[in-house]
Amino acid sequence: MPEFPGVRMRRLRASENLRRLSQENRISIDNLVYPLFIVEGHNRVEKIASMPGINRISVDQLPAEIEGISESGLPAVLLFGITDNKDDTGSGAYSGNGVIERAVKIIKQTNPGIVVITDVCLCEYTSHGHCGIVKNGVIDNDSTLHLLAEMALSHARAGADMLAPSDMMDGRVGVIRRSLDENGYPYLPIMAYSAKFASGFYGPFRDACSSCPSFGDRQTYQMNCANSREALREIEMDINEGADIVMVKPALSYLDVIQAAKSTFRVPLAAYNVSGEYSMVKFAAEKGLIDEKQVVNEILLSIKRAGADIIVTYHAKEIAGWQHLERNGSRH
Ligand code: PBG
Repeated sequence: MPEFPGVRMRRLRASENLRRLSQENRISIDNLVYPLFIVEGHNRVEKIASMPGINRISVDQLPAEIEGISESGLPAVLLFGITDNKDDTGSGAYSGNGVIERAVKIIKQTNPGIVVITDVCLCEYTSHGHCGIVKNGVIDNDSTLHLLAEMALSHARAGADMLAPSDMMDGRVGVIRRSLDENGYPYLPIMAYSAKFASGFYGPFRDACSSCPSFGDRQTYQMNCANSREALREIEMDINEGADIVMVKPALSYLDVIQAAKSTFRVPLAAYNVSGEYSMVKFAAEKGLIDEKQVVNEILLSIKRAGADIIVTYHAKEIAGWQHLERNGSRH
């Protein structure tokens, strides 16, 4: 092995263009998904206190939002529905004309090209805030499955381009896949939240969606944060059940899981840079403790280096803006 002084690592760091030339990983907006929170009612664009820069938007305000997103060049959005219409079985999730179904239609009318992914999970629609049906104080797996399939089908009928089950019930990818196939949607892809951990980093999101469990926590269905072999089993099961894209969530504390998944499987791999990861950066930047752009760049590159092909991130719109400025700005 050649060594110093024959080798000098600093040679390729000497100028901006040399650094550009030898850069191994890049953030492209082509691989980013921007999450949107959709609320009932009219004329609502409300700031989310726990997530600076992110709003809850009513369906009638979506065309303007979607036009902005289309102009920025982002290819895809991920929709979360927020409703006051909550009950024990989360019936608003599969009623057919819920806030998500209406949102999908409006988005498709505004820009048919943008990829509309919908979150498939009951927690935003259940009065108890759990991701499944509660029976005797327990989240019942098997009776939840057909409701998730109904929800997925309802989003498909509204025109969604991709479905993203995030509930972590066993067997849901297979049940949703079969239901889509039997009802005329054999080509609709599924992006499964395969390795979703019971994480404290979802805090700001639950505030945004009022989807905090009213009793207990999600540890009986979301994964134990200490486990990585189990994450690979979860991912393998979802691939076998028909997932087209698998996801690791959250991203930052699970970069090792992303890397292991990348080297083990050959399906496209997504990572979710979740609300807590986003808001920590935002609040630190507001306090002047960090350079936001530099830190966001570093975080997204770490997720790329680990091996994610697709990144879901609340930073997406800002990143698109920065990249636009760089393309049109001064680069020597
Ligand atoms: C719904 C769902 C959650 C997130 C995405 N889908 C919340 C949860 O499981 O409690 C979290 C997203 C984020 O924190 O950005 N099951």
